[in-house]
Amino acid sequence: MAVRLGDDAPDFTADTTEGEVHFYDWKGDSWAVLFSHPKDFTPVCTTELGTVAKLKPEWDKRNVKVIGLSVDPLSAHGDWSKDIEETQGAAPNFPLIADPDRKVADLYDMIQPNASDTTTVRSVFIIGPDNKLKLSLTYPASTGRNFDEILRVIDSLQLTAKHKVATPADWKSGEDVIIVPAVSDEEAKEKFGSFTTIKPYLRTVPQPS
Ligand code: BEZ
Repeated sequence: MAVRLGDDAPDFTADTTEGEVHFYDWKGDSWAVLFSHPKDFTPVCTTELGTVAKLKPEWDKRNVKVIGLSVDPLSAHGDWSKDIEETQGAAPNFPLIADPDRKVADLYDMIQPNASDTTTVRSVFIIGPDNKLKLSLTYPASTGRNFDEILRVIDSLQLTAKHKVATPADWKSGEDVIIVPAVSDEEAKEKFGSFTTIKPYLRTVPQPS
């Protein structure tokens, strides 16, 4: 059964490159990104894991813990990590789940049989401090993910969890945001001071801090 936005992210216990992880205990009240890979020792995955490792300061800045998953066993993850360090300049600095019995992959519906019935697709789950699912993405095996986009979404999720705003197309942190329609003009004045009305339903304001 697919996990949908707003659902509780399923909890699990799994073997990882950093020891046994009890997901909710490991995550605590941080944000989390859980992302899956089709297989170890594959070229696109190798670049993705190096990229995620090099972004550690960005995850830390946002209070985000990252955890990867591949259906291969722990012994393979260890050897592959050395290759990732050698070829990408950074070894994974986050846990990588070994899921040979597909326990976690099934919980999160990461196996999509019409794509492949043996390997996980490239899933991304962003989970909030309340353990609810905030975003899910599914990429095919042939397309490496854009992790700057994942960070951009986290910036939007964290901002919109705090303020009654939404973020427009291609928004980046620091740019103007949209006042949500449920906020009246009077309330908007109170909350934000001045704002720009382009249409009654399209009102913008500098990003609140
Ligand atoms: C890759 O990670 O490079 C990959 C994995 C499965 C199919 C195609 C590419």
